[in-house]
Amino acid sequence: MNRKKIVAGNWKMNMTIDQSNELINKLSLISVNDVEIKIAPSFINLHKAVSLLINSEIEVVAQNVHSEERGAFTGEVSNEMLKSIGVNSVIIGHSERRKFFNETDDVLSKKVKAAINNSMIVIFCVGEELSERESRNHFELIKTQINSGLSDLNNDEIKNIIIAYEPVWAIGTGMTANTEQIQEMHEFIRGLICEKYGDDISAMIRILYGGSVKPNNAKDIFLLRDVDGGLIGGASLNFYDFQSIVNAANGS
Ligand code: PGA
Repeated sequence: MNRKKIVAGNWKMNMTIDQSNELINKLSLISVNDVEIKIAPSFINLHKAVSLLINSEIEVVAQNVHSEERGAFTGEVSNEMLKSIGVNSVIIGHSERRKFFNETDDVLSKKVKAAINNSMIVIFCVGEELSERESRNHFELIKTQINSGLSDLNNDEIKNIIIAYEPVWAIGTGMTANTEQIQEMHEFIRGLICEKYGDDISAMIRILYGGSVKPNNAKDIFLLRDVDGGLIGGASLNFYDFQSIVNAANGS
């Protein structure tokens, strides 16, 4: 199965509107055939990002969404609101949301379900802490995160999920998982999808790696059999780094 690679930039809480516009204007000049490029600016920059990229292949993604449709949830944003400005994809379950905003597997499963019910594409993140890897609980933990986060999805709905494996200890630390660790976890995750949804679906689901992907390691990571691209944090804030990671995905 030939799965098209994805390179997605997660800008986190970075970029003023002027900085965002400047980077987007540069990114819009990148031209590649074989890679889906996505960027996830902060909420405040999303609307403008969509309008700047209207004639481009680059897709704009939200970093978070609430599970309810509307109501008294101060500070939150709904799927309907995102769709109303042309944002049709969202990252759910990033380790920073799990850790700093107490988003549990249960909360995340509601968010995923709500987003999918609204026909959103979801980049669903999973990943273990270093202590969990050291105590050899990492496979079990990822299994729990996948099975609970994606629990209620049927065969059609799962096709709108992109999984991102991001070992927490590799995020923003410059410490990348090695290619063996990455491939074995991606294969394990694909196996979990296969158990529940069968061969055809598991062969088409895209699984991204995230955690200190940089221009100097992207190519080796993207060449791995079960890696379908990357979720890029720090390096997505720099045009040349991001462009070179996109090129690495294009060539692999
Ligand atoms: P990083 O972040 O590339 O800065 O490690 C990745 C992520 O958090 O998605």
